Amino acid sequence: MRIDILTLFPEMFLGPFDHSIIKRARDNAYVQLRIWDIRNFTYDRHRVVDDVPYGGGPGMIMKPEPVFAAVEAITKGAKTGPRMLLMCPQGQPFSQSLAKELAQETWLLFLCGHYEGVDERVSIGLPFEKVSIGDYVLTGGELPAMVIIDAVARLIPGVLGEPESAEQDSFADGLLEHPHYTRPQEFRGMKVPEVLLSGHHEKIRRWRRRQSLLRTRELRPDLLSQIQLSREDEELLANPVEDEEWG
Ligand SMILES: C[S@@+](CC[C@H](N)C(=O)[O-])C[C@H]1O[C@@H](n2cnc3c(N)ncnc32)[C@H](O)[C@@H]1O
Repeated sequence: MRIDILTLFPEMFLGPFDHSIIKRARDNAYVQLRIWDIRNFTYDRHRVVDDVPYGGGPGMIMKPEPVFAAVEAITKGAKTGPRMLLMCPQGQPFSQSLAKELAQETWLLFLCGHYEGVDERVSIGLPFEKVSIGDYVLTGGELPAMVIIDAVARLIPGVLGEPESAEQDSFADGLLEHPHYTRPQEFRGMKVPEVLLSGHHEKIRRWRRRQSLLRTRELRPDLLSQIQLSREDEELLANPVEDEEWG
């Protein structure tokens, strides 16, 4: 997947994509990142990228001309353009299902706003979709772009060593994931649930599913109300797994 990022602060992207899984995804060419400084698409002597808002008010607004120039230069000659995402607190809420959808694309382009935001003509004149990472306001779109790229990149087939891990993650099937344990078996008096040591795959599956259902009901009842529970789910919610023990 090719990913282009338009930003006024390219240095912010040094680091987050240079470690761990995303670095490996880049090294293995699953993801090709190109970071563009919007200031390089200004054509005036002072390389101005922002200006005061018409009608008055606080803050500065990102000017449309450099953004249009950047998008046009990046997409010039392309048969099919990228899916274009404008980071914006007013946008469609980002979610695991949108991450899954974006992971199918071959080319994404992110525009990171800053200051009071971007001149509205950018989203009128260019096919940007506004996307928000939550109901709060950050200083810029760089962190939202990083969040979205991280969530999307790990869903590209081949990026995660074990693809099932993404399939079992929270939200993948509408539920929160079950709890995890590793060695030691006992730590400061806290024991690993017996069932996980039993080697009985079916019991472990049922126990994990029940934990996932219980956890979602307790922490995110809104999620539970959005999915269709199977008969087994109903039964698991009502009754502990046979021989379930907590050690
Ligand atoms: C200070 S914000 C502008 C907020 C804008 N004045 C408003 O009230 O909607 C500056 C930039 O940060 C980014 N941003 C801030 N919060 C965000 C969020 N929750 N999701 C996505 N982008 C966000 C956007 O790119 C935005 O243009």
